[in-house]
Amino acid sequence: MTQSLTVLGIESSCDDTGAAVVRLGDRPEGRILSNVVAGQTRLHAAFGGVVPEIAARAHAETLDHVIEEALRRAQLRLLDIDAIAVTAGPGLIGGVLSGVMMAKGLSAATGKPLIGVNHLAGHALTPRLTDDLRFPYLMLLVSGGHCQFLRVEGPDAFKRLGGTIDDAPGEAFDKCAKLLGLAQPGGPTVEAEATAGDARRFAFPRPLLDRPGCDMSFSGLKTALMRARDALVAEQGGLTRRDRADLCAGFQAAIADVLAEKSRRALADTPDATAFAVAGGVAANASIRTRLTQVAGDVPFTAPPLSLCTDNAAMIAWAGLERLRAGHTDDLTLSARPRWPLDSHAAPLIGSGKRGAKA
Ligand code: KG4
Ligand code: ZN
Repeated sequence: MTQSLTVLGIESSCDDTGAAVVRLGDRPEGRILSNVVAGQTRLHAAFGGVVPEIAARAHAETLDHVIEEALRRAQLRLLDIDAIAVTAGPGLIGGVLSGVMMAKGLSAATGKPLIGVNHLAGHALTPRLTDDLRFPYLMLLVSGGHCQFLRVEGPDAFKRLGGTIDDAPGEAFDKCAKLLGLAQPGGPTVEAEATAGDARRFAFPRPLLDRPGCDMSFSGLKTALMRARDALVAEQGGLTRRDRADLCAGFQAAIADVLAEKSRRALADTPDATAFAVAGGVAANASIRTRLTQVAGDVPFTAPPLSLCTDNAAMIAWAGLERLRAGHTDDLTLSARPRWPLDSHAAPLIGSGKRGAKA
């Protein structure tokens, strides 16, 4: 029988303070004993984006509570845990530091091993926690802060096939909502508006489709949307409900087209993929999901449940567990890395999203 391993995970790299307990027992996938997330949306709402200093302070104030709650829900004491895994980057430095210092304190006090986890590895390994995917598989990470294709070859082996060179798609959806006076977060509100719209009325660009490879760009879309909106306002003095719906539908279709075509290329570059997995908040979008499923064809398509697609600590505990199982632990010299590419061989991207996840 396999030895059971139980890991506490801590996540604080952006605007969610998370703690979770995950166990690996006698089945290949993990079991989530608890997964607590305290969001900070309310604290940042007035500023139109995440304020790093406010985020760091909130993490420092909340971490001990969410850890206690995660242990309580798992019905375990700290001493029952086999190791402490923590996001050590990439992300906002203040938040990452809060988590790393907390994890070091717990490790020093209990003598339990400390494991630094790359936040993106947490996302990328989640389909193994939920579905026991076999290596290698293709992962599209698509959220407000991330957008990249990864060939996942092992718990510590990732090859980046391409990614956004500017905004992440979730960020583009959020900006679209802002430009059209819709509520935040923009993804769900733009998607709802788009259902009644005609995607063909406005010709939005499909950036970088004319170039080979899997890199993407989404910042030009927002400029195109602004121009279309301003032309309508100049012409009619404002936007009708139909205009808004058509703009949202056209905008969403452009993003879906780019993601679908680049996924097709990434899949062609990964002929041995056991599966095509998608993670991140944008994976919640029904029309994008449908397109990706179509592109996957015969390759099994999988998307973790939304609560595990967005930032959470269960994915950090699981990635920690995979590292622990492979014999990797860190010591108290572990440092916070605001930038930490998963694939150190890939050329750095020019930019990657609003949330400090530069990878
Ligand atoms: O993964 P996530 O919770 O956080 C990070 O960015 O790390 O993703 C949030 C992003 C937001 O930008 C939000 O607008 C987008 O995911 N999103 C969506 C949808 N639901 C959330 N985008 C498109 N369609 C959706 N239904
Ligand atoms: Zn994330």
